[in-house]
Amino acid sequence: MNGFFFIFVPVFTLVLKINFHKNMLTDVLLSNPYLIQADDLTHDDIYKIFDKADFFLSNFSLGKKFDDLKGIVVALAFFEPSTRTKLSFELAAKRLSADVISFQSSGSSLTKGESLLDTLKTIEAMDVNIFIIRHAFSGSPVFLQENTNGIVINAGDGKHEHPTQALLDSYTLYRQFGKIKDLKITIIGDILHSRVARSNITVMKTLGAEVALCSPGTLLPRHLNVWNAKIIESLDEVIEWSDVIMVLRLQRERMDSGLLPSTREYSKYYGITLEHISRKPNLVLMHPGPVNYGIELDYKLSSYPNVLIQTQVRHGVFIRMAVLSLLAMNIGKA
Ligand code: CP
Repeated sequence: MNGFFFIFVPVFTLVLKINFHKNMLTDVLLSNPYLIQADDLTHDDIYKIFDKADFFLSNFSLGKKFDDLKGIVVALAFFEPSTRTKLSFELAAKRLSADVISFQSSGSSLTKGESLLDTLKTIEAMDVNIFIIRHAFSGSPVFLQENTNGIVINAGDGKHEHPTQALLDSYTLYRQFGKIKDLKITIIGDILHSRVARSNITVMKTLGAEVALCSPGTLLPRHLNVWNAKIIESLDEVIEWSDVIMVLRLQRERMDSGLLPSTREYSKYYGITLEHISRKPNLVLMHPGPVNYGIELDYKLSSYPNVLIQTQVRHGVFIRMAVLSLLAMNIGKA
C-alpha cells in the first residue's frame, strides 16, 4: 500500500501539473497562429490582446526589455510606405528582444525583376520566424501565409485590412471609456478605399459597439449591407449621435478620378472643424493617420484635448508588443 502511494501520488501530481500547464497554454493562445484580418480574432482573442497590452503598458519604462521574443527573428517586409506601423512594429519587436531585419522595396532586388514569392523565400531562408507585411495588393499576406512556415502579420494590404490598426484604435477607446460595448462610433470619410475602416468595423462590432458611416455616396462600398452599419448623411447628425468620431483621409493613391468634384467641396461637407467638436464636450475624435490637415481636419484640432491621435500612436506600440508576444507562443508547435 505504501509503495502504491509513493508511486501513484507523484505520478498523479505530475499529470495534473502537465494538464494544468497545457490548459494555461491553450488559454493564452489566440485562435489562429497568424493575423491576416480582423475576422481571425474572436471577442476573447481581442481581450487577451488588450490584457497583454495593459501588462506591457503598466510595466513599461524607457530602456526596459522583455524576453518574449528572445531568439526569434522578425522581418519587416514593407512594400508600401509607412511611418507609424513600421516604426511601432520595429520598436515593439526590439522591446521584446527579437532580432529585427527590415526590407524596403525601393532599393531591393525587386527592382531587378525578382518576384514577390522569391523575395519572401529569400527572407525566409534567413531563419525568419515572423513576417510583418505591408503590400499594395489585397490578399498578399494570405499568399505569403500559404507559402511559408513562419507567422504572418498583416500590416495593411491594399483596400483589404489593417487589423493591428483596428486593435490599437479599439484599445484606445477601451482605455478612454473603460468599455467598447454600446459606444456609438461614426467613421467619416473615404470608406471605399480604407483598409482601416474594414478592420475597424469588424473589431468594433465584435466588441459590441454601434457603428455608423458618413461619407459621400461615391466613397461608400457597395457591400455595405454586409456590415449592417447605420448611414448618417450630415455632420450635424454625426455630432449629435456619436460618442466617438473616427476621421479618415482621402486615399488618393487608391482612388479613381471622378469620385469627388473637388477636395474643397469635400472639405466643406465632410471636414471636421473646432466648431463641430466644441458643440459636444465629451465627444472623442480619432484618426489613424497620416492626417491631411486642411482637408478632413482643421489644423486647430491637432492639440484639442479629446483628439486622441497621438494616444493612438503610443498605444500602437503596446498593442503590437501584445500581438507579437501572443503569436510567438506558436513558434515551434508545428
Ligand atoms: N495608420 C497607418 O497605417 O499609418 P502608416 O501608413 O504611417 O503606417
